Amino acid sequence: MRLKHIKNADVIIASSPYLIKEPMLYKGKWKELFNNNNPIEIEIGTGKGKFIIGKSLENPNINYIGIEKYDSPLVNAVKLLENININNLKLICFDALNINEVFDKEIDKIYLNFSDPWPKKRHEKRRLTSKQFLDKYELLFKNDKKIQMKTDNDDLYEYSLISFEENGYEIIKTDTNYIDTITTEYEDKFIKNGKNINYIYVVKK
Ligand SMILES: C[S@@+](CC[C@H](N)C(=O)[O-])C[C@H]1O[C@@H](n2cnc3c(N)ncnc32)[C@H](O)[C@@H]1O
Repeated sequence: MRLKHIKNADVIIASSPYLIKEPMLYKGKWKELFNNNNPIEIEIGTGKGKFIIGKSLENPNINYIGIEKYDSPLVNAVKLLENININNLKLICFDALNINEVFDKEIDKIYLNFSDPWPKKRHEKRRLTSKQFLDKYELLFKNDKKIQMKTDNDDLYEYSLISFEENGYEIIKTDTNYIDTITTEYEDKFIKNGKNINYIYVVKK
């Protein structure tokens, strides 16, 4: 995926009250930051933030954390949030490869929306539904492990179904023509171009 570099993106996002600058300090303590015991759900690869902002506005009794590797897309999220006051949303600029440095047995659900497909076999480990990442996610969850995924990429959809099953997840729901009430930026573009949206919801007890 090509990313547009935004000048001073790091400075712009650092000034936002939604942006947690040193997320590792909150490992195991995110409920203290939110100041409640509500469930915590995270989106990995949050991009410009449309989905996670929509979720947090719709569900005030769930806490949300959007995780994005690069600062440039987060500038858009920060701008969208400029005139909104939401208590149940935080953003972090962090590579999910090191996600176990940030969370410990405190997450209720993970969202993976339009993750980079990494189609080459030699890049399989980079896919956010590869065994390498699923093993990391295991340690984040508080109780049941719930993962919801949406993708335009049919190969990543098929690959992920197999990977979830091989790693002990029960497939609760799949849909290859999924219509969501809260969409992402990429999803909007794919829908506009007539591309079907694939959906997977899995749980591991
Ligand atoms: C194709 S974009 C989708 C963005 C958004 N979820 C959407 O649907 O509009 C994938 C996003 O995931 C981010 N990403 C990829 N690998 C990541 C990782 N290891 N940790 C955090 N973010 C990651 C990318 O920087 C990019 O913003």
